[in-house]
Amino acid sequence: MATAVPARRRRVESFRTEVQFFRIHEDAPSTEDTEMNESALQDDDDAELDGELVDDEGQESECSESSEEEVPDDSHFQQDMENLQDCFAGFRQKYRLIKRIGEGTFSTVYKAEDLLYDSYDNSWDLDKETEKWTPPPLKSFSGQSSATLDYQSQSQRRRKPKYVAIKKIYVTSSPSRILNELELLHDLRGCRSVCPLITAFRWTDQVIAILPYFRHADFREYFRNMTRPDMAIYLRSLFTALASVHSHNILHRDIKPTNFLYDPGSRRGVLVDFGLAEREGYDCKPCICHDDPVTRKRKLRPLISDKEKEGYPREDTRHSRRANRAGTRGFRAPEVLFKCTEQSTKIDIWSVGVILLTILSKRFPFFNSADDIEAMIEIATIFGRQRMQAAALLHGCMLQTTIPTIGRSGFSFEGIVLWSTDRNETKDKLPEDERLAVEFLSRCMELDPSRRISAEEALEHPFLRMGLDESVEEASDAGDDDEMDMLKV
Ligand SMILES: Nc1ncnc2c1ncn2[C@@H]1O[C@H](COP(=O)(O)OP(=O)(O)OP(=O)(O)O)[C@@H](O)[C@H]1O
Ligand SMILES: [Mg+2]
Repeated sequence: MATAVPARRRRVESFRTEVQFFRIHEDAPSTEDTEMNESALQDDDDAELDGELVDDEGQESECSESSEEEVPDDSHFQQDMENLQDCFAGFRQKYRLIKRIGEGTFSTVYKAEDLLYDSYDNSWDLDKETEKWTPPPLKSFSGQSSATLDYQSQSQRRRKPKYVAIKKIYVTSSPSRILNELELLHDLRGCRSVCPLITAFRWTDQVIAILPYFRHADFREYFRNMTRPDMAIYLRSLFTALASVHSHNILHRDIKPTNFLYDPGSRRGVLVDFGLAEREGYDCKPCICHDDPVTRKRKLRPLISDKEKEGYPREDTRHSRRANRAGTRGFRAPEVLFKCTEQSTKIDIWSVGVILLTILSKRFPFFNSADDIEAMIEIATIFGRQRMQAAALLHGCMLQTTIPTIGRSGFSFEGIVLWSTDRNETKDKLPEDERLAVEFLSRCMELDPSRRISAEEALEHPFLRMGLDESVEEASDAGDDDEMDMLKV
């Protein structure tokens, strides 16, 4: 049935050629089918092949794995959902919209049932693999042949509905930004712990990306209760994603808890939202942070000789500097704040460090600044004036401050964690495993990006290995192969 089961992967692979069509950003010649891939032009008969699986009572199978309730959205979103279904031809045959699950700066995300799941090659589906370990219970009937039993167990089996997340990108996003997000997701297909792109559709200026739906919990609900192995498993999953992304020389640029969908129950996580991601080296100009120390010192000499002159120059003749500052305040690395023109994948590692600092200090958000200057002050308060000035110089910036809360040497992470968790910084000591976590934190939050740990190195750090080893032990104790599957994610 080769024609009846078109491979979705094939559709995604042919995406590059179709991108040209998209890049022009013209309306589709026909509004009949605006899917981005030619090979995706589906025969309407496909819908019939799917044949809705029904349970014993002849009812459509309901969500059996999600604890979320299908609460109707308010009228604005109901209207939005109606429009979405009406605009994209064939939408209702492909997807059943359930509810709105997220609203970001650049998109609204909906949960929907994938009605044509069985008509496609779903090799991206991780759950398909794990499902083989949890088959539905089979009823035994005495006096019936095994063929009859097989048939009955098949027909009585309730098929779990398959869900997708439909990301409707706002029309105000620039076409190049949308194209960039979809292209990078396409390049990252098959990367572990990275949300794969199933397909995408366009109708006039409206683009929707179809992603597998990942059940996840709100970070604010679980981060305070995480044990050290929980933290290690969470971070292992996040660093696994980053190691893949960075090995493709891609910077995510917006690492934060809402972009890492984590399910504490299954302890699985996926990285989403490549809306701000970009390739390393894109739109870059050389920054002295990449020079060797001797050359850097030579280039900095004129700046340092000006050090004595305090205040603002009457006429500032310095060139203004343009650098990418995308990302979320509070998670921005110091080099982003110092407008480094040659940013690297290490900016993502800093952001993970901020997540770990949040978990260890049990404070969310940890940083809470109104602008980049305040963000610098927050970081300088922790690291102290001396180290922050050295970090600024790395990128050719001079930092001077008389703010009294910024001390000369700042605070240690150990002290911050003790203080923020109501322990006495002078009397109390961190337990061994927490000290290891703090040591790992300091490797992620190195001010100098060249000294900051990489995602690959992080995966080998004893703190992250601790979580791995304990989980493997737990899994083998319980004889539970699912746990092993989880660790592969
Ligand atoms: N594949 C998915 N499965 C389940 N939920 C998802 C999925 N993708 C996105 N979401 C939900 O939608 C939210 C917004 O998605 P996303 O971050 O991709 O959009 P955004 O507009 O770029 O958001 P923001 O600007 O807030 O970063 C996520 O935080 C998450 O709650
Ligand atoms: Mg997001």
